[in-house]
Amino acid sequence: MKLSWDLPGLSLNLEPLWKNPSGPSWQAAYGGLMATSEQALLEKFRSGKVGFYDWPKDSPLEEIERMAIVAKKLRKEFQGALCIGIGGSFLGPAATLDALRAPEEQEAFPIHWLSNADSSSIRKAKHFSKGRKIATVVLSKSGGTTETLSGFFHLSSQLKEKGFVVVTDPKSGELRRLAKKYAWENFEVPANIGGRFSVLTAVGLFPSFLGGLPAEELLEGAREMRSSLERFAPAENPAYLYALASFLWDTEGDCKIQYLMPYATNLKPIADWYVQLWAESLGKEKRGFTPVAALGTSDQHSVLQLLKEGPRDKVVGFIELDEKEAPTIGEPSFAADPSFKFLYSHTFTEIAVKASRATEQSLRNSEVPTYRFRFPALTAKTLGAFFFFQEVACAFAGELYGIHAFDQPGVEESKKLLEASLKA
Ligand code: PA5
Repeated sequence: MKLSWDLPGLSLNLEPLWKNPSGPSWQAAYGGLMATSEQALLEKFRSGKVGFYDWPKDSPLEEIERMAIVAKKLRKEFQGALCIGIGGSFLGPAATLDALRAPEEQEAFPIHWLSNADSSSIRKAKHFSKGRKIATVVLSKSGGTTETLSGFFHLSSQLKEKGFVVVTDPKSGELRRLAKKYAWENFEVPANIGGRFSVLTAVGLFPSFLGGLPAEELLEGAREMRSSLERFAPAENPAYLYALASFLWDTEGDCKIQYLMPYATNLKPIADWYVQLWAESLGKEKRGFTPVAALGTSDQHSVLQLLKEGPRDKVVGFIELDEKEAPTIGEPSFAADPSFKFLYSHTFTEIAVKASRATEQSLRNSEVPTYRFRFPALTAKTLGAFFFFQEVACAFAGELYGIHAFDQPGVEESKKLLEASLKA
C-alpha cells in the first residue's frame, strides 16, 4: 500500500504511522468505510450545504480581481492596516501573511492583527494606529462576534472611515448591516463556508492581497490539490488516509493528543490554524483528539522529552521546509572555535531539516507514531494546497467519527452566554 506521495506543492509520508508496531490495525476492513465515508461527504458537497470544497473552482473571478484592486488602492493611500477578527476570521489570514511576507514587506506596509478582546491587545492596536494613516479590515463571518465588534467599536473613533473594509456574511449580521448603512467597502464570505474553513475565501484572500501577496495563487494551489486528490480511489486518497490515521490512532491507538510541528518560525501560525480546524470540527459528543501546535526546533528544548518518554498518547507530525535559498552559517570572523567546525558551511535549512529528521528518528526509536509533510518551497500555492488538503482530511475525518464537522455548538453557546452576561 502506498503511504507517501508527492502532491502539488508538498509531499507527505505517512509510512511511520502504519509501520509502528504498537499501532492500530489498519487492514482492508477500512476499504469499505473509506468508500461510504466519501459518499456521505460528497453528498454534503453536492447538496450545497458545505461549500469549501467547490469554492476554489467556483470562486467568481471578478470578485477576486476586485479584492486585488481595492487592496492595491489601500496600499497606495494608507501606511498600513489594522485587521480585526478572531478564530477562523484571524488564524488563516494571519498565518498566510506570516508565512509569506518577508520582513521588508511587513516594514513597508505593516499589518497588525487585533485578534483578542483584552486591554493589552487594545493598547497595542491603538499604539499601532497612532500617528499612522491606516486602513481597517473587520472580518467576521457572523458579523456579531463580541470580541471583534467591541475592539472595532472601541477603536472606531480613531480610524479613518474612508479606509474601512468589511468581510462578512452576504446577508446576515451586524457588520453586514453597518457596511450597508455606511456604504463601506465589503466582501462576502459565502454562507455555506464556516469560519475555520474560510481561509481561501475573502477572509484569507483580501488580507493577503493587502499584504502584497499573489493571493489568487492560494486558490490555484487548492485547485491543483483537488484535481490531484480526485485521481485517487477512496481507499488510496492521501487526504483520506491522513484522516484515517488520525482517527485510528485516536480511537484505537489511544493517541488522544496529536502534534503538528513545523520547523520554521513563520510556519508556526499554520499549525495554530490546524489546531482550530481539527479541534472545532471534531471535538463533539465527547469525541475528537486534542490537536496541538509546536515549533521545531524550539520545542525540542521544551516538550520533546515528554513526547519521547512520557505517556504513549501522542502522534507527532512534522513539517519540513526545504528552502533553497537559506542563510549559511559561514566561517566566523571572530570567536572561531575548532570544536564547532562541523557547523561551518551548513545552511539554516540543513540545520532545521536535519534536526527534524533526527528528532523523528529518535521518536520512532521509542515507537512514538510520527508522520511528515515536506514543503519543497514556501509559496502561496504551497499554502493553498496545504489548507485545502487539511480541510478535506478534516471533513473526511468527521465522516469516520460520525460527527458533523461543520458546526460549532460549543463555541456558539459561550458566545451567547457572554452576550447575555454583558446585557445583564
Ligand atoms: O470556525 C468558526 O466558525 C469559529 O471559530 C469562528 O471562526 C469564530 O468564532 C469567529 O467567528 P466570526 O467569524 O463569526 O466572528
